[in-house]
Formats: sequence, structure tokens, C-alpha cells
Amino acid sequence: MDAWTFRFDGADPSREGLREALCTLGNGYLATRGAVPECEADGVHYPGTYAAGCYNRLPDTVGGEHVENESLVNLPNWLPFTFRAEDGPWLGRPGAEVLDEHHELDLRGGVLSRRLRVRDDAGRTTAVTQRRFVHMRDPHVCGLQVTLTPEDWSGTLTVRSGLDAAVSNRGVQRYRGLSDRHLTLLAAGPLAADGVACSVETNQSHVRVAQAARTRAFTGGRAAGVAGCCGESGAEQEITVRVSANRRVTVEKLVTVYTSRDGAISEPSAEAREHLARLPSFGTLLDEHRLAWRQLWRRFRFALRGPESPALPVVRLHLFHLLQTVSDHSVDVDAGIPARGLHGEAYRGHVLWDELFVFPILNLRLPTLSRALLRYRHRRLPRARAAAAAAGSAGAMYPWQSGSDGREESQRLHLNPLSGRWIPDVTSLQRHVGLAVAYNVWQYFQVTGDLEFLGHYGAEMFIEIARYFAALAEYDGTRDRFVIRGVMGPDEFHTGYPGTDRPGIDNNAYTNVLTVWVLLRALDVLDALPPQRRAELAEALHLDPAEPGRWEDISRRMYVPVRPGGIIDQFEGYGDLAELDWPAYRDRYGDLRRLDRILELEGDTPNRYQASKQADVLMLFYLFSADELGELLGRLGHTLPADAIPRNVEYYLARTAHGSTLSAVVHAWVLARNHRTEALRYFVEALGSDVADIQGGTTAEGIHLAAMAGSVDVLQRCFAGVETRDGALLLNPYWPRHLGALEFDIQYRGHRITLSISGDTVRVTAGDGRSPPIRLCCRGETTDLGPGEVVQFPLASQPQR
Ligand code: BGC
Repeated sequence: MDAWTFRFDGADPSREGLREALCTLGNGYLATRGAVPECEADGVHYPGTYAAGCYNRLPDTVGGEHVENESLVNLPNWLPFTFRAEDGPWLGRPGAEVLDEHHELDLRGGVLSRRLRVRDDAGRTTAVTQRRFVHMRDPHVCGLQVTLTPEDWSGTLTVRSGLDAAVSNRGVQRYRGLSDRHLTLLAAGPLAADGVACSVETNQSHVRVAQAARTRAFTGGRAAGVAGCCGESGAEQEITVRVSANRRVTVEKLVTVYTSRDGAISEPSAEAREHLARLPSFGTLLDEHRLAWRQLWRRFRFALRGPESPALPVVRLHLFHLLQTVSDHSVDVDAGIPARGLHGEAYRGHVLWDELFVFPILNLRLPTLSRALLRYRHRRLPRARAAAAAAGSAGAMYPWQSGSDGREESQRLHLNPLSGRWIPDVTSLQRHVGLAVAYNVWQYFQVTGDLEFLGHYGAEMFIEIARYFAALAEYDGTRDRFVIRGVMGPDEFHTGYPGTDRPGIDNNAYTNVLTVWVLLRALDVLDALPPQRRAELAEALHLDPAEPGRWEDISRRMYVPVRPGGIIDQFEGYGDLAELDWPAYRDRYGDLRRLDRILELEGDTPNRYQASKQADVLMLFYLFSADELGELLGRLGHTLPADAIPRNVEYYLARTAHGSTLSAVVHAWVLARNHRTEALRYFVEALGSDVADIQGGTTAEGIHLAAMAGSVDVLQRCFAGVETRDGALLLNPYWPRHLGALEFDIQYRGHRITLSISGDTVRVTAGDGRSPPIRLCCRGETTDLGPGEVVQFPLASQPQR
């Protein structure tokens, strides 16, 4: 890799899935894995194309139980492209040997290139280069350009190019026993003289998807070759060209993609055909595509000056995949933020709480996108209300895993690949997802001050979430406290108490403290609304005047399990569980990230141990500053000792398996203040989540979007210390000076702001404009900053460990 490029030399079948995921190209509307164009899904290669929000459900019987799974659908593959010399073997078939192969992902321009040489069994050698894009300006367009140079032969070159609609969802080994055919073929065939088209429909959600492709060959800049249709489906075309040794042939394949979910269309197939007919050349499209990326990179600029940092290219890779999953083109699509990007089929493309780690990057750069993505949740508010009502509760209960319509999509049984057993899955008890939705609404409001959003959408979600959690909190007379029973925290290892059948644990500290925070902010949200809107909402939601009083009461008497020395128990009874013999397990199994699977294999369960999959209590230190958390716990009558944070960090660090990529992000964060070296170790681990595939093979099934965005956020909000709170931009950097100087841009309340942070100073520069001045605070110093102004704060020396 260099500052903007990732290279993959040679072909390693065992890592091809990983390369494909990392080389995915997308634009927020659709994405296509970096699979080679001549291969189908064959156990090594897995071409996958996914459109944001395009889901389908299929039924199955597992262990005698009827289950239904909703999946992000693998759409027809638009890549197929191969060639042969004379009547020799096709590239991708036996007899065509790939001599050397290099892939290059250009992050700056959003282009994936490939170079290879192919020799067939008659000894004919052809040099090939391919370039492709998934257009960042025109979301319905994809392009592949191939140049073919016969090195040592002359004669007839035939290229074959098409659309493959015979695809299914087979990207995740664990799901292979389950139904995977989501598409019904509606039509496939030739299109005009030099094109093909196909259209399919998902068999349950009835989304129609149409693709049209045009392939043209050129020699010496002029159209060449004779085209004809071929293939069983009819959606393939062949072009035959006379070639001479060392004379290059260029082939351009342009593809349009539409679905019946798109706005401003009549019908997807007509749209795909008509749009294709209007397209300019590959070159012109490529220029526009690159311009769109240049503009995006201006907004998402991160620069590290000083010693060459290996972190920077990875930071860019993370931003690159974030912007390919959600972009301006997502704004008009009804889709959320899928945990594994649009890059693979793990978690079936579902939306979980992971967006909590993604919004901070978007809020400060593309707030319109944040707003649109929050509306994905707002449109599913009726479902969340229905779910709460079905659970006998008031308010809105958001699902742990969400897809098309916002019903709970978590699987009810999951497969432990180590034991081959299907295990009941109760992870949907992670009610805290609703708290994350509320947190995200509030953070968006803090950054933008968008009262109009709050009034129309945010406040309604907030109040309904607050109501749900207020109802979930039961009054326990014996301790004169409110308690929340039978839920799960972020740590997915603890699904219940050992020796009982009752699912869930009680008084998860994270859930209970966040509930207090949400109830308090709900009061602030009501306060922030213009009186007329507040009155309208209260009327429409039948908000009883007594409700805010109850929220206030719960916020003072919520039970949070805090031990006398200041250790916060992950949940009630966590401290009574057995200690796991970590060294012994490490000796036996090496990697303990999926300790849950290991224990289940042994007929045991993590429920018996003080062993957590990921940060849970520590999430509190991640989401709240020490002051905020102190205030929240103070309301509840707890005063934590001064060293409580480092002591809790140490306690849980010794008991955490890091079985989720989110864990490294949170640990980097919470260690940053007191253990700089350790923090950097976790930061490096978070950066490695996908490039180094640290969870052992999971990246091939989709990137870990929250770890990607979260790792950048460690730079932005943790090391650079940017906070947006109380109507001000707060700066409290803990910048590791040996990383050099960091410079990045944010957008805050209508201002474009450049932050430059070194070990000694932080400089804040506001771009030109007309927005009113903002309030800026750095370590107790407060000032106003208007358009075109610069402020510099010295940073007192920080203890470095
Ligand atoms: C984590 C969850 C996360 C999910 C999707 C799981 O391994 O435990 O917290 O939401 O992955 O990223």
C-alpha cells in the first residue's frame, strides 16, 4: 500500500474472498465485490452485487422449527467478461493459465485495476489490463474497461460479456444449509446491436431489478469487431476482432442498474435501457466519477504531517468503504447502515446498533446524510411501537436487527460452526439498540442544531424510546429503585444466568445508565422544541403531563450495580460468576475471540464466567466524558473514586475476549487518557479489523463498518478530542505526538472548520461564509469563532505513558 493505493500481488485462493471484500466498489446505492469478471461463485470466488435496502425473505425449517430469514439480496452479476485467442480456452477455464496477476485499488479515484498475463494451452500469450468503477456521480452506472494485447500471436480474438442472473446468496458458509434463491428471472436477452439486458424479481418482496449492458470493442480508437448474442440465457454477447501481435484492443462494458424501489422512474427495465443509450464513453464517465471522489475527499480529508504513518492509508480505506456503503445517493433510498457494508452477506445485510460508531463521522461532514439515515429509523417507528405493544409495553421498541420493514430480523437459532449445533439465539434481547437510536438523534442535533428535524422526526422517536425504557424500568420496592430485567447488554456472551432457563440478565449497567441519560435528554428535547410543536406532539402522542415527572423520578432512582470500590458490575451478579482460567484456555485454543463457540463445543457456556465478548461497561466511558458520567451516576447517589475509570478498564480488559471488532475501538478510546501505548495497540488492532482480517476469515463475508468508521473516530473525537455538547464545539486533545501533526476538516453549524493538532497546539480555522459565530472551548478557555477566523490554543504537556 501507499498513501492512496492498496495492491494485491498474485492470487491466493485462501484469501481471495478477503481481497474481493476489500476491493468492493460502491456508491451508497449499490456495491459490487472486487471479484474477477471471468469467475462465478465457485468456492474461491464470490461475485456479489447488492443494492442498499433491497431485501427478501425466505422460509426454512431448522431443527424442526419454522424460521424465516430476511437477506440483502445478491443481485445479477454485471461483471461477466472473458476472452479467448482463436478457438483456444476461455480465460477462467482449464487450459488458460494466468501467469501473473496484480490488483490495485485506487482510493483517490475509486477505481479497481487488474493486470495479468494469460497463456493458453497452445502457447498464445495475451496481456490484459482491466479497470472498473461503480459510479459515484451517477449511482445507476457501472463500467469495466479491458485492454487486451496479444504478445506473441495474431488472429481472431473473441470476447464474451454478459449479465448473470443465475445467482443466489451463497456468500456465508454458515448459512449454506438454508434457502438462498431469492430471484425469479423475468427476462434476459439481446438489446439493440451491441447490448444485453436482464430483469429479475425478488420472490417474496417483489422488488424488480433491471440491468442493461453495452459492450464495444475498439482498435486504434475506432470501433471494431462483429458482435453476436450467445449463452443459454441470451444475456451474453460475443465480439470477434482480428488482432495482430502487440496491437492493443480496448473493450468497454457499461452497465445500468435500476430497481423498482427507485424514485423518478416509470419502470426499471425501460429506465435501464434508456439510460444506457444516453451514456457517454467509459473515459468521460471515469472523469466524472473521479471528480465526484475528489469532492468527497475534500470533505473527508484527514492528513498526518510528519513521520510517514502507516495508519493514514488504512484510515482512508476505512473512509472509502464507509462512503461506498452510505453516500449522497443513500439520501433518497429507504435504507439504513448495514453492519457489514454492502460488501458481503454476513448478518444478512441487517442494520444493528453499529451505526452508533458511524454517525460521528457523518454528522461532522455530511449531515444531510445523517439526517436521511436517521429517517430510516423514523419510518420504522410504527413497527417499533407495534413491537413494544406486543411486548405489553408503551413507546417504541426498536429491533436488534432491522431490515426492510423494521420488524425483528434476528435469527432465532444460530449455528456454532465448531460443534455443528444450532443454538437458540436470544441476542434480540439487546434492547439497548433503541438507546443508540436516541443517542444518535441527539448527537445529530448537537452538531447541526437542526430544530426542524428534531421537531418533525427526532423528538417523536426520542419520546417513544424514552417511554419504552420508562416502561421497561420496574419499580422494585425492596430496594426503592427502578430495575430493568431480562435484557442483554452489548456483550453477547451473556444471554442469561447459569442454571436457569430465563433468558436475559438483570440490570445491565450500560442499559440502565443509558436509560437515565435518554430520559433526561427526552426532557431536554421537549424543552428545545418551539412551544407550538411541543404542544402538537404532546397532543398527538397523548403525552400525559405525569410522564416527564416519572422520567425525572427514574433518572434519580435507577438501580446500577456499583461495587463499594467503584467497579461497575456489567450486570447484577456478574461479579459472582466464576473466573475463567484464561491462560489455560489460551494454551489449549490459542485465539479466544469466539470463546462462546469454544465453551459451547465443550458443553459449557460463557454464562458461567466473568468473560465478556466485547466492551460493555466500558461503553459508558466511550459514550460519555468523565464529567457527564460522573453527573449521571451522581444523580443516582454514586460517587466514583478518582481512579474508577482506570480501575474499571483494567478489570474488564482482563476479562474480555474481543470477539467483536467493536471492542478494539472502544478499548483504544478508554485507554487513551492513561495508557497511551496500550491505546495505540488497540487503535492499530482496530485499523487491522479488515485489512488484517483479525477475526479470522470474517471480512470475506463483509467489512466491519463500525470498526472502520470507529477507528477514524478514535482519531477525531478521542485523540483529537472533538466534542459537540451544550451548543459548543469542545476540544480536549490527547494527541500522541509521535504520530506527527493531524489535520482534518469538519462541518459544524454551517461552518467549514479545519482543525490542526500537534502535541503542542491546536489550531482552529473557520472557512469563509455567513454563518453566525460558534462557541469554542478548549480546556477551560472559551472563545467565539466567526467565518474566516483562526484561533490557536496551546496544549499543556500531557502525561505520556
Ligand atoms: C457484535 C455486535 C455487533 C455485530 C455486528 C457482533 O459480533 O457483538 O455488537 O452489532 O457484531 O457488527
